[in-house]
Amino acid sequence: MDLKLKDKVAIVTGAASGMGRSIARMLISEGAKVVIADLQEEKGKEVVFHIKQGGGEAAFTHTNTSVRDDVNKMVASTLATYGQVDMLFNVAGPGAVGGQLDTDENEFNRQINGHLKGVFNCTQAVLPTMIEKKSGKIVNMASFAGHGVLDSIPAYSAAFGGILAYTKNVARWAAQYNINVNSVSPGNILTPMTINWLSEGDNMEKITATIPIRRIGSPEDVASVCVFLGSEASRHLVGVDINVNGGQYI
Ligand SMILES: NC(=O)c1ccc[n+]([C@@H]2O[C@H](COP(=O)([O-])OP(=O)(O)OC[C@H]3O[C@@H](n4cnc5c(N)ncnc54)[C@H](O)[C@@H]3O)[C@@H](O)[C@H]2O)c1
Repeated sequence: MDLKLKDKVAIVTGAASGMGRSIARMLISEGAKVVIADLQEEKGKEVVFHIKQGGGEAAFTHTNTSVRDDVNKMVASTLATYGQVDMLFNVAGPGAVGGQLDTDENEFNRQINGHLKGVFNCTQAVLPTMIEKKSGKIVNMASFAGHGVLDSIPAYSAAFGGILAYTKNVARWAAQYNINVNSVSPGNILTPMTINWLSEGDNMEKITATIPIRRIGSPEDVASVCVFLGSEASRHLVGVDINVNGGQYI
């Protein structure tokens, strides 16, 4: 299937690492141009370097997605460099910590700002150019935690619950401009965010046992679904959340 992504322009937040990096690489292999937006400058530039070495087109922009000025600059520099924004992948966000009674206000704010506010900022910032073109794809990284299936990490879960609700809310509105907004909810995925925790003791075996397909997901398992949602192949999907979790949460 031709995803028709050649020369399309994507912004991928959180693309210096993990699933964002995988999405960026997959988009490049489909012929798209990618802006890597991340807090991690060195790692982000490394991703760009490797993409360019392979003949792809990419640029890095230092962005904190929870800071609106940064996000406005991210969109402005993408438009200045590539002239358009066809796709936005909202993937940036911090890891989860804290239980029900020990999650303090700082951690709560960090989770809401790092995930929910970042998705809101970036989405709102790209909408005007997509509305003008009457075309666009926005893919939000959510999580199985946002579906209320865990009994810990409450702030992280609440942030993703917000992302799931916001995705449907903005999707319903943006569809009139031929903009598709959807989300993906991964289960446990092996990335730099989770590798230390998964490598502790028998955590890997324990988690694998909770997954009917009996393997921990890879960044590519999630990236391929995100890239599908960024393409015309999914043009009739509006406000949909796709669980990518090997059956861990059904
Ligand atoms: N790994 C999993 O099991 C899993 C499962 C479900 C959802 N998620 C979520 O998916 C997203 C990506 O996770 P990952 O596992 O690839 O993590 P990762 O740590 O490998 O990558 C996250 C990237 O986001 C960047 N980032 C964090 N906050 C940012 C901000 N405010 N502005 C810009 N960049 C920022 C980091 O610098 C990093 O490069 C996260 O939101 C995570 O919570 C992860």
